[in-house]
Amino acid sequence: MGYIVEMGEIYLAGNYKREKLAFVKGSGTRLFTEDGEEYLDFTSGIAVCNLGHANQELIKELNTQAELLWHTSNLYYVSPQAKLAKKLVELSFAEKVFFANSGAEAIEAGLKLARRWAYENFGKEKNQFIALENSFHGRTYGALSVTGQPKYWEGFEPLLPGIIFIPPNDKKALSASFNEKVCAIILEPIQGEGGVYPLDKEFVELAKELCQKYNALLIFDEVQTGIGRTGKLFAYEHFGVEPDIMCLAKALANGLPLSAMLAKEKVMSAFKPGTHASTFGGNPLACAVALKVLEIVSNPSFLKEVDLKGRILKEKLEKIRKERPDLIKEVRGLGLLIGIEFNISAEKIYQKLLEKKILVTQPKPNVIRLSPPLIITYREIDFFMETFKEIITVL
Ligand SMILES: Cc1ncc(COP(=O)(O)O)c(C=O)c1O
Repeated sequence: MGYIVEMGEIYLAGNYKREKLAFVKGSGTRLFTEDGEEYLDFTSGIAVCNLGHANQELIKELNTQAELLWHTSNLYYVSPQAKLAKKLVELSFAEKVFFANSGAEAIEAGLKLARRWAYENFGKEKNQFIALENSFHGRTYGALSVTGQPKYWEGFEPLLPGIIFIPPNDKKALSASFNEKVCAIILEPIQGEGGVYPLDKEFVELAKELCQKYNALLIFDEVQTGIGRTGKLFAYEHFGVEPDIMCLAKALANGLPLSAMLAKEKVMSAFKPGTHASTFGGNPLACAVALKVLEIVSNPSFLKEVDLKGRILKEKLEKIRKERPDLIKEVRGLGLLIGIEFNISAEKIYQKLLEKKILVTQPKPNVIRLSPPLIITYREIDFFMETFKEIITVL
């Protein structure tokens, strides 16, 4: 065990289940340990480093901004933040942007905005949220309260009241759950932490329809699916349904802490001076990097490549599933967010991949999630598949 791991075990809070691995350097799709061992990263730091590690174009933007200005607070306007808001508006359904630092904070902002908007327009009785079972929205109290996985609640209750949970893709339950007191429904277009489960188009369409009927807002949590991960800049584009509020984080600044909550002006106008805030939110360094991230990722040819790589990877996995239905139950996902569900525990496969120096994540005991940097090469996809095949032939 290396020195960094040893030190971490002594001094860091024990809330994470970490591998006994410490990375000290990254480059593209590769990570290097303190002993100089090289790993192929099929996690992107949980869908964050979409443009790879130590991306030179991003480093340039970061260094330029670091020489200019780090922080002034949101008492003033700062150039990269205003430019980034403009860019996000140009690229999405939204008209206004609020910046924060993490996914959970963007969700908190979205939930607060929905309640405030409902309060201003319809009164304080309209305060309920509909959320999905098996969802994941983060660990702060609001985000945790709409997270439909009771294992995350244990020991932390009471949570926020007024949340109605329904099973994903259950249109009957969706219709039954709506009433005049609902201010918003929150959905992940693909349940990432829940095991990579995409929502059905008809379910999302019905959610939008019901929101319009009951004067409620549709919140898309695109913390994991946004910024090109699914082969479109935002996953909502796959559904042909625009949300009223969208939350982004993770890949927005490729690893610098930054999140955003986007909405139309008529909704965001409920946020008046003093209603919500963040000291660090939209800090100039992260915003400068995010501007470059968006410039690269929003290029149609870049997104086309992501879509193609995702299709190829999924097709190859699907072929193996057909050969080994005893072992692999389902391959699902969009773009480069793919889940492989096994009929057995995925632990052994995860460990074998780790031994072969390939990093993946295991969001559920029987699911392996692949979320490589979007710059992954076709050759690296082939290498992954060869290794994967080799591992599963002995199972
Ligand atoms: C869909 C979704 N929402 C919210 C979050 C919370 O983000 P953060 O960990 O940055 O607070 C996550 C994190 O995995 C996520 O996947």
